[in-house]
Amino acid sequence: MVEIPLSATPAHLRHGSSIGQPLTRRDGWLKVTGTARYAADNHPDGVLHAVLATSSIARGRVERLDEAAARRHPGVVEVMTPANRPPLALHPDEKTGPFSFRTEALQDNTVRYAGQPIALVIGETLEAATEGARLLAPCYAEEPARLSMDGEHFVPDSVGVGGEAEAVKGDVEAGLNGAARRIEAVYETPPQFHNAMEPHAMVARWKGERLILDMPTQGLAMTQGRVAEILGIPAEQVEIRSPFLGGGFGSKALLAGPYILCILAARMLGRPVKLVSRREQMYGPYNHRGETRQNLRLGADAEGTLQALSHHSLSATSTFDDFFEPAANISHTLYATPHLLTRHRGVRRDTGTPMAMRAPGEASGSIALESAIDEMAQQCGIDPLEFRLRNYAEVEPISGKPFSSKALRECYEQGAQRFGWSGRPLAPRQMHDEVGLLVGWGMGTATFPALMFQGHARAVLRHDGTGVVETGAHDMGQGAWTALAQIAADGLALPSDRVAFHAGTSTLPDAGIAGGSGHTATAGMAIHEAGADAISKLAELAMADERSPLFGANNAGVVAREGRLHRRDDESRSESYADILDRAGLAEIEGRGTGAPDPATQEAYAKHAHGAVFAEVKVDPELGQIRVSRLVGAFAAGRIINPRMVRSQFYGGMIWGLSFALLEKAEMDARHGRIMNANLGEYHVPVNADVPEMDAILVEEHDPHVNALGIKGVGEMAITGSAGAIVNAVWHATGVRVRRFPVTLRDVF
Ligand code: MOS
Repeated sequence: MVEIPLSATPAHLRHGSSIGQPLTRRDGWLKVTGTARYAADNHPDGVLHAVLATSSIARGRVERLDEAAARRHPGVVEVMTPANRPPLALHPDEKTGPFSFRTEALQDNTVRYAGQPIALVIGETLEAATEGARLLAPCYAEEPARLSMDGEHFVPDSVGVGGEAEAVKGDVEAGLNGAARRIEAVYETPPQFHNAMEPHAMVARWKGERLILDMPTQGLAMTQGRVAEILGIPAEQVEIRSPFLGGGFGSKALLAGPYILCILAARMLGRPVKLVSRREQMYGPYNHRGETRQNLRLGADAEGTLQALSHHSLSATSTFDDFFEPAANISHTLYATPHLLTRHRGVRRDTGTPMAMRAPGEASGSIALESAIDEMAQQCGIDPLEFRLRNYAEVEPISGKPFSSKALRECYEQGAQRFGWSGRPLAPRQMHDEVGLLVGWGMGTATFPALMFQGHARAVLRHDGTGVVETGAHDMGQGAWTALAQIAADGLALPSDRVAFHAGTSTLPDAGIAGGSGHTATAGMAIHEAGADAISKLAELAMADERSPLFGANNAGVVAREGRLHRRDDESRSESYADILDRAGLAEIEGRGTGAPDPATQEAYAKHAHGAVFAEVKVDPELGQIRVSRLVGAFAAGRIINPRMVRSQFYGGMIWGLSFALLEKAEMDARHGRIMNANLGEYHVPVNADVPEMDAILVEEHDPHVNALGIKGVGEMAITGSAGAIVNAVWHATGVRVRRFPVTLRDVF
């Protein structure tokens, strides 16, 4: 493992000896040498291969499958259809918690969207199963697919996970009517799919009553519970191993139907079964980001002070479930205004159910809001940065609560300075590069809530001076193996090479979900508390023992450092963990900890991370080709556990923003509801050649309220702000306002 000396880390990022160090990924070498074992890399003896057959229509019924043809094919072992699918204890449409969603596990022959599983073919080889699935040649009774955003609009019961569909402060109509300057615009965001490098995959095997699952999941305990309730077996009988995920982005948080079918097949056939979704099948049963149509109305006075902000989002969902992209909620947070209204409406379509996809709500909402803010600044004749500073929210606009911390002003300053923002001409089409390309500069504000879920951890101090920390945390590629181990080492006050860190299986304490950018805060606080618990038990042993130099230190207390406890009032009096344990005749001592949001500060403060993103684009004036040539982000997200990894998260977020602004869109066939670009060739995501010079500045921020470690989240925020900055730069280069995303050369040519 390569380590960078602590001295390379700016002082404000340091905490204990390990937190704040820019360590490289502990699992990096496993990945670059191909020895990291992902779910589909498991090949147990006797494994069978399962292949999904999926629907090519969006609505109707499967009338006939040529099962006989499939079964006749050499190597096909079984064909699972609604007719022979083993019973489940819980209908897959049954919701039992805020995070469960309705899914298809061959409960009947109804088709609810194109790409829905309609059968599973199991074979001795992948080839046999694939051919068997093809031979099924389904016949459908097709009904017309309802795919328009103009269907019946309704008020959702909730948006996102349990959010209110509407929020209001003041009287937005009065505010708009009284405003000297007004804009109204409609912005459209397309359906997008998660497209993790690692497809959805499972190897399921039964060992007697025990079920062992190799699968990628962002929520080990949640998935374990869902599997158990659907099969009607105790959760303890289900073991899930998910040491690595090749990307999750939200789609691996919830248990989708194909996984259930794979488990049933393994039980039915008494052999391990592997199911790997093909790339085009990733555009079916595994959720996506829902399409939105957002109407923004802004009013400002003659000086450019916002008077009213109305953000209305129409969010598409499926016909059978209820997830709504909470796109308007970002307007609760960013800009001060006396009158504020956010409102969500839903529309049902014959598609799969949309679900959380990286910065759900904020990503779609941000590109619209930041575009509208840019339009308003233009209307007022004010520089977009100056306009944002004029409307800086000192308290959270919707709630009036103070922010637990907010270094956004510093983000604006440092980002603008690094980018060289000053001197930007107000009018568009003013700048050209040396070869005559149009050059534009744009900016956006980034934000994401600092969420925590509930997680648990166990920490053990051993008499040999080492420690073990265990929690069922998930590494989707973000670096949890490393960052959480850093927190573990500091929690036990041991050097990181003396602490073993275990994560990634359901047999460990539930670490909560890896989602909502809350994993480091949640699992990290659980680890921190578990370490503190182990150390306090050790301290009690020592302080009560006359033979210890720490005897009687109770009032002054003790402090742990480098494997020793020291008296606070006299640091020369100390004792090693090993000596304390040995004298007590203990091989080890165990601590337990929980990470969860603190209800008191939750009530008192608005908790968000913030940032500012500056973009330069170049547009070919003849061809309309758009390239991002520079991206600078400055982000404040509380304590930074590992600056190397956090910077990497911000780069990833900015690249996702680029993708959102210029590339990503699932093209749906208007008749059959099929995704026509269900592959990585035609569903565009950025490749290295699309990605410019990037800079991510880590702005110092101390947050005494979010949690004891001061950690906010970093995973999702940088998508927000970035997408808006890029489309605003496109306007600045071309003078064309594009409000249907992604922006393509057609739009500006
Ligand atoms: Mo995320 S969309 O919270 O994995």
